[in-house]
Amino acid sequence: MRVPLILFPAFVVAAEAQELYLTTTGYSARPQCTESSALTPHYRFQPFSYTLNETVRYATSVPSPTTTRTYAPAYTEAVKHLTTSWSTTTWGSWIPGQTEISATDSQDPYGQAAWSSMWQQADLHNYTTTGIFSTTVSPTAVPSSELVLPPRDYFGPTDCYNFPKDFIFGVAGSAAQIEGAVALDGRGPSLLEKLVPDNKPKDFVTNENYFLYKQDIQRLAAMGVEYYSFTIPWTRILPFALPGTPVNQQAIDHYDDLIDTVLDAGMTPVVTMLHFDSPLLFVAGDNITRHADIGYNNAGYQNETFVDAFVNYGKILLSHYADRVPIWVTFNEPLLYAFNFKGVDHVVKAHAQVYRFYHEELKATGQLGIKFNDNFGVPKDPKNSSHVLAADRFQEMQLGIFANPIFLGKQYPESVLNTLPGAKPLSKSELKYINHTSDFFGIDPYTATVVSPASEGIKACTADSSSANPLFPYCVNQETKNVYGWNIGYRSESYVYITPTYFREYLYYLWNTFRHPILVSEFGFPVAAEAEAEELSDQLFDSPRSVYYLSFMSEILKSIYEDGVHVMGALAWSFVDNWEFGDYAQQFGIQTVNRTTQERHYKKSFFDLVDFVKTRQPRKD
Ligand SMILES: *[C@@H]1O[C@H](CO)[C@@H](O)[C@H](O)[C@H]1NC(C)=O
Ligand SMILES: *[C@@H]1O[C@H](CO)[C@@H](O)[C@H](O)[C@H]1NC(C)=O
Ligand SMILES: *[C@@H]1O[C@H](CO)[C@@H](O)[C@H](O)[C@H]1NC(C)=O
Ligand SMILES: *[C@@H]1O[C@H](CO)[C@@H](O)[C@H](O)[C@H]1NC(C)=O
Ligand SMILES: *[C@@H]1O[C@H](CO)[C@@H](O)[C@H](O)[C@H]1NC(C)=O
Ligand SMILES: *[C@@H]1O[C@H](CO)[C@@H](O)[C@H](O)[C@H]1NC(C)=O
Ligand SMILES: *[C@@H]1O[C@H](CO)[C@@H](O)[C@H](O)[C@H]1NC(C)=O
Repeated sequence: MRVPLILFPAFVVAAEAQELYLTTTGYSARPQCTESSALTPHYRFQPFSYTLNETVRYATSVPSPTTTRTYAPAYTEAVKHLTTSWSTTTWGSWIPGQTEISATDSQDPYGQAAWSSMWQQADLHNYTTTGIFSTTVSPTAVPSSELVLPPRDYFGPTDCYNFPKDFIFGVAGSAAQIEGAVALDGRGPSLLEKLVPDNKPKDFVTNENYFLYKQDIQRLAAMGVEYYSFTIPWTRILPFALPGTPVNQQAIDHYDDLIDTVLDAGMTPVVTMLHFDSPLLFVAGDNITRHADIGYNNAGYQNETFVDAFVNYGKILLSHYADRVPIWVTFNEPLLYAFNFKGVDHVVKAHAQVYRFYHEELKATGQLGIKFNDNFGVPKDPKNSSHVLAADRFQEMQLGIFANPIFLGKQYPESVLNTLPGAKPLSKSELKYINHTSDFFGIDPYTATVVSPASEGIKACTADSSSANPLFPYCVNQETKNVYGWNIGYRSESYVYITPTYFREYLYYLWNTFRHPILVSEFGFPVAAEAEAEELSDQLFDSPRSVYYLSFMSEILKSIYEDGVHVMGALAWSFVDNWEFGDYAQQFGIQTVNRTTQERHYKKSFFDLVDFVKTRQPRKD
């Protein structure tokens, strides 16, 4: 593994290969400017005329599809590979105080009464059935007046690279954050309805994308977006979650239509199977708490039934949709919800089974992978070996914990086995089965974090797992300032800082450590105080977000061409402002949402990002 060398002098010279900062004194070098700096000024009077001569440019829609590609057998054939049997049914919608009373099938363990009872037991407060819409809205064409490009920012990337032909460019969102309609059309309760305290906004309505998906997809196509990454809620497909329980026909139809809508618009779908919305029935009682550093305990992943249930769910999704969806993700950022060693172990094993089903049984030809969270931990003082070790440990405990077995067939890292209570090594045969079960390395590299060892030392911190040490189990300090006291980058509304050069460093680390193509599966920037801007036009002119996206995309190109790193694609988070787990103020979107009317508007950064990609695409002849 490469040891990052990052120093922070008062003045820096960015070398050609920008992942190394060199210590120097003096001002930034301007190698391209040496001759003009010698000129003397020549003052003179001249005739004046206004030159408001900017050309009006419009975003161009993705072209209509001409061919249909398939990546796996159609459902009728695929279903033969499933071994568990189940029935297909519908439940309708839960209206508190009504649905459960009208249900007459209390004998049926999976009937209307049982389904309603799950919602009653979820004990939701201030539940609202719907927002504005209650049926699928027909899309209307995006008027060309909405597609005029905004004024450019003065500064921008100056590279001369094009994206490789097969580079995946797209945008992403997740079901619970946009769909609403949580108890409609047979969806069962998920953890996310309970996770957020009652005094904060819940996921009941959010962006009403469950009804507005056709319009949302049309808006993306009109901007020229090629890939749309979305997630399917487990409890829509299987309200009772477990193998053998009935499949919800309304959900199957909904995502069938969503996928076809994406394809008909000329875009390509990317589907994630589990994005935090795990079935509530895996969670005993209300005992969900957040550990400061890692995530949520008792989020269901530790449950004994989890592995079989997830694999069954994954197979059902693949049998229905793998014919048309070329890119699959099993788990989104599993660390946040797996929480402890058992949860992690379950994720690793469930993922491997779904992968093998996809390639070995369905013989599907698309790609199936997994995506992780980890704000790249960089050593506070890269000359201090204890800081470097702390950074290594930080990455191991968040990435190596899953990626060692899945990508390399390697044992869980020593740091994990020595720290996490109950951690057990994988057997030789387990490692063999899990090895190489992801076609790409999905990473959500929003930002970087400055890491140094816990002040009492890593050893002392890890020795006492029972202590309420808030740094356990990573046992490292995390900061947002570098060793000289500067912020590591421009700060957002939340934890994200603009850190493009660390991002490139990170890509280099991931590629050379885990040796699989990298999919930047989410990246984005919630502009500070954006939600407080009273004028819509001020929210739409989101230059800091443009800086974030263009600098990150520019670093991806350098990473590909200068570092030899295989970055296979990038998906911007998020395609629209959304429900950020109890909060609408962290606006990660490249479109706004009017919370009264559900109207969307494109932000400037959306145009800038698409323009950056389109001007750097090889001609498709
Ligand atoms: C606008 O006018 C200036 C001055 O004539 C010229 O240099 C520039 O190229 C023009 N820009 C465009 C976009 O036409
Ligand atoms: C209902 O929501 C309000 C604010 O939106 C909150 O203050 C209140 O606690 C909630 N009621 C219950 C019973 O959760
Ligand atoms: C595990 O999930 C099952 C449903 O499969 C549930 O009945 C049980 O209560 C869960 N166990 C725990 C400890 O949460
Ligand atoms: C709640 O979760 C914590 C942490 O996992 C555990 O120690 C505790 O026993 C649980 N309490 C109940 C009532 O299940
Ligand atoms: C290295 O870092 C450790 C932990 O922060 C610190 O105790 C030690 O003094 C540092 N060593 C040097 C040479 O700076
Ligand atoms: C994992 O699988 C790859 C590809 O099949 C193989 O080259 C490698 O040797 C395997 N690693 C281990 C530790 O088995
Ligand atoms: C939302 O739309 C309504 C109705 O058009 C409008 O009055 C309101 O100002 C909009 N809100 C924002 C924040 O733009």
